[in-house]
Amino acid sequence: MKARVWIKLVLAVAVISMSGCEKKGATVKKQEAKEIRQMSANTESFGKTPDGKQVDLYTLTNNNGIRARITNFGGILVSLEVPDRDGNLADITLGFGKLDGYLGEHPYFGAIVGRYANRIGKAAFKLDNVEYKLAANNGENHLHGGIKGFDKKVWRLEDIGVKGEGAMVKMSYISEDGEEGYPGNLACSVIYTLTEDDKLQISYEAETDKKTVVNLTNHSYFNLAGQGSGDILGHELTLNADKYTVVDEGLIPTGENRNVEDTPMDFTTPMTIGSRIGQVEGGYDHNYVLNSGSTLALAAKVYEPTSGRIMEIHTDQPGVQFYTGNFLDGSITGKAGKVYQKHYGFCLETQHFPDSPNKPDFPSVVLQPGQKYATVTVYKFYTN
Ligand code: BGC
Repeated sequence: MKARVWIKLVLAVAVISMSGCEKKGATVKKQEAKEIRQMSANTESFGKTPDGKQVDLYTLTNNNGIRARITNFGGILVSLEVPDRDGNLADITLGFGKLDGYLGEHPYFGAIVGRYANRIGKAAFKLDNVEYKLAANNGENHLHGGIKGFDKKVWRLEDIGVKGEGAMVKMSYISEDGEEGYPGNLACSVIYTLTEDDKLQISYEAETDKKTVVNLTNHSYFNLAGQGSGDILGHELTLNADKYTVVDEGLIPTGENRNVEDTPMDFTTPMTIGSRIGQVEGGYDHNYVLNSGSTLALAAKVYEPTSGRIMEIHTDQPGVQFYTGNFLDGSITGKAGKVYQKHYGFCLETQHFPDSPNKPDFPSVVLQPGQKYATVTVYKFYTN
């Protein structure tokens, strides 16, 4: 009996000191990484569009080795390499390694979506009693800016370098009056900044010369265990939202904001994405009404237990579309030859509510000449 207790004790001490070693190892790795890694921002060619436009790939690296690759085609976040709890990097976004993949049909991997992200019911809206007709590219509804939205445009490089809060790249795009049916020339810019304290910040700005509607977001699909490594059902999600916008079968809000309490929609405390997904028809594809309104605050936190990676999303937007890659079906082969199956990535698209142009009770998405649209979303990374 006594001998057994002793053996148990010795084993316990061994396990504790081994885990201490592992932790030390990870710290050393992190320190080594710090010594050799420096903030940088570089440009290289990513190829050409079929009509001969040059497309570039920008690489932002920070002092901890986090690396974000962005292209001016669609303002797409092509990859995002982030360390796990042992300091090992993995690319945590789905997408393509080459421009070709983004030129074809794809479900908005990493893209800047606009002029209006998400759906507009019956592909039309009115401003001052003038009706604007948009492309019905999602059944009878309009989705993600239309046939050729901001995700398929070549943006202009405005600035790149290590300045301000970190390694940054600024791109701009002018969406002409009438493009995809929207009124007004809209001058937009997007700045990606990778900071020393492991934040990837996306700032959006826009100005118009005619009353219009704007709703910009980034449509990255995340898998914190590494892109293509499996489904995201084991990730633990917390959403700072007591309500979500109830939708009809075309995913257009009915106007009712329903309480999440006691339903599978409730992520106000950490829950694995997969724990109740079977009770949500089709999987999660819903806009959550953030408790913070339009104040910059923590909107979502995601923890992946095998890697220890944690991503926090802070935004000043009133909503976040939580989408669990329900339409991924294995028909797309992405980076490193990985095949993307159902639920292999999740999106948390910070934005205004769907169909806001037709919902006077929702926070307004109208932009007037002389006003400035300016919003920010921050993705913060650490491990546990
Ligand atoms: C939408 C989904 C859509 C996906 C890809 C998401 O923002 O909510 O319904 O399938 O984008 O287009």
